[in-house]
Amino acid sequence: MRKILFVNACVRPNSRTYFLAQTVLEKLDGEITEVCLCRENLAPLCRNRLEERNTQLAAQNYAAPLFQYARQFAAADEIVIAAPYWDLAFPSVLRIYLEYVTVTGLTFRYTEAGVPVGLCRAKRLIYVTTSGGTIGSQNFGYDYIKALSKTFYGIPNVRCFQAENLDIQGADVDRILRKAVQEIENSDIQSL
Ligand SMILES: Cc1cc2nc3c(=O)[nH]c(=O)nc-3n(C[C@H](O)[C@H](O)[C@H](O)COP(=O)(O)O)c2cc1C
Repeated sequence: MRKILFVNACVRPNSRTYFLAQTVLEKLDGEITEVCLCRENLAPLCRNRLEERNTQLAAQNYAAPLFQYARQFAAADEIVIAAPYWDLAFPSVLRIYLEYVTVTGLTFRYTEAGVPVGLCRAKRLIYVTTSGGTIGSQNFGYDYIKALSKTFYGIPNVRCFQAENLDIQGADVDRILRKAVQEIENSDIQSL
């Protein structure tokens, strides 16, 4: 069975982003494993953790516990990330998670010429977000995930579903979300 990794970076209870992501997940075939980042106790790679990581990498000990997220990410057949639009990007817990995922020898490697080559199994990553105002062309969060996926992880197909303007005064939140759900329903994501 296909392994779908659901990276949940939603922070608020009753998150609209989480709700939209469920619509995406319902359309996909496979066994879903959720990593709820707010429950993972993720800490940034400060000096001690970085040294530990370097030691394990030098020993090529990819089975070390601190590589669990990278191993899981690399083995997934498909990845869905749900992250609200925060400060033109996404919550910092997702950035920390990516520090643990972006590991040479597990999710990518460098050629002798220094060119990154992806080692991830997934062919597609779907990013889901919602915003209080208008995102326009400034979704640094999604653009960053897309760049990492294509340049490092080797995931060629990256796409985004979003719902905007949810916090504008008088916004008809239900209508905006219904429209976003409809876009997902009408999309071709079922066929990879
Ligand atoms: C810390 C924080 C930062 C935010 N930054 C932005 C922002 O830069 N632009 C924007 O349009 N909305 C911003 N918002 C509003 C959220 O994007 C919006 O409420 C979103 O729907 C929250 O998703 P959720 O319901 O999944 O939590 C921010 C909200 C929070 C709490």
